[in-house]
Amino acid sequence: MKIDVKYSKADAPAQNEIKEVQEKSIEALKTLRAGNGAGNDFLGWVNLPAEITEEEIRRIELTAERLKKKSEVFVVAGIGGSYLGARMVIEALKHNFDTLLERKNPTIIYAGNTMNEDYLADLIDVLDKKDYSLAVISKSGTTTETAVTFRILRNHITKKYGKKEAAERIVAITDKEKGVLKSLADKEGYDTFVIPDNVGGRYSVLTPVGLIPIAVAGFDIRQLIAGAKLQREESLFNDSAESDAIKYVTARNILYNKGKTIELLVNYQPNLVFLSEWWKQLYGESEGKENKGLFPASVSNTTDLHSMGQYIQEGRRLMFETVLHIEQTGRRLPIPEQEIDDDKLNYLKDFSLTQINHKAEEGTRLAHLEGDVSQITLSTEKIDVQTIGRLIYFFELCCGVSGYVLNVNPFDQPGVENYKKKMFSLLGKK
Ligand code: PA5
Repeated sequence: MKIDVKYSKADAPAQNEIKEVQEKSIEALKTLRAGNGAGNDFLGWVNLPAEITEEEIRRIELTAERLKKKSEVFVVAGIGGSYLGARMVIEALKHNFDTLLERKNPTIIYAGNTMNEDYLADLIDVLDKKDYSLAVISKSGTTTETAVTFRILRNHITKKYGKKEAAERIVAITDKEKGVLKSLADKEGYDTFVIPDNVGGRYSVLTPVGLIPIAVAGFDIRQLIAGAKLQREESLFNDSAESDAIKYVTARNILYNKGKTIELLVNYQPNLVFLSEWWKQLYGESEGKENKGLFPASVSNTTDLHSMGQYIQEGRRLMFETVLHIEQTGRRLPIPEQEIDDDKLNYLKDFSLTQINHKAEEGTRLAHLEGDVSQITLSTEKIDVQTIGRLIYFFELCCGVSGYVLNVNPFDQPGVENYKKKMFSLLGKK
């Protein structure tokens, strides 16, 4: 992985500005490592990749194998940090059109992240016809979207298979003792996995929250953890200004200090859309508090160059871009050369689609720099399960460190409670 920063003319910082933010970023990393900053009771994720035991990995794998055998469909019921991590990894690694192909692993379907009645009713139509199992994932065990969805699905699966078999098709992933989900799971005899007390939802992808769905989808959780572990070794203990993590934290905070209010995560491949969704939740919930923080947004190019591209080039100068540059794609698809150049595309005969995509990326970078949009580029060789593990740890670490630079607690989310209180009062909940 490599971070490269190009400031636009308008944003170019002086040497002393860079140095000041670099020093703050290094101090913030040391605070995180020492565990004496705000929210330090939620730092369990820092050592997860190094501390997860063989016993836990094996139990996750065995459970996933058992569920795979029974299921054409696997429903993941969870919201926010209780589903975005798993979805990011699975979407990044799966075949883009897997639901239309013969497959050996269950199709993963996400629920419990919306209260839209049509969505769940449509899902029930599918579950009537398919063999399925499900994971209910909620750290608090009380989140309304997930709890209501689970009540409906629990009734459905019990009617379909009977109580005993239904219990064997349900996995509960929740807190070790608090919340109604834990007591319900114990009463019904569901397989239960624990989300550690000291790991918050949006930092929980490397716990059973992410690992169970990822394993059921057929991906190698050992390689995912190995990638995160490598990144931990590279970034957690590196206090140099040349560390990629320090470079990223420094650049985004310099741009924030310059008055930028939006960080746009830019990808050039549709299987990374959920990487952006996960990243947005991670940074939005961690930094957006006390009237501070960059607003995390995203575009998926070149698709969005034909929708948001105009605004980015010429609209209000609010944003900078963090571009994910992926050097190689997994597949090759030659553009056929034609004897009669009737569509005038023979000039592309020496390029692969990936090379053309890279030229679009380069052209966009130049155009946006001209339009005063500064660019942080995060380059990586390819997207595979290890790289995704690296990206998870990299972004989590930088998020915690950045939160400390901003002087907020990056591990709480007090603002999320407000809508819940208002909704409960409207619903008459006691
Ligand atoms: O990051 C967080 O803490 C939140 O996004 C939670 O993951 C989300 O609100 C779901 O909470 P729970 O797992 O308690 O149902």
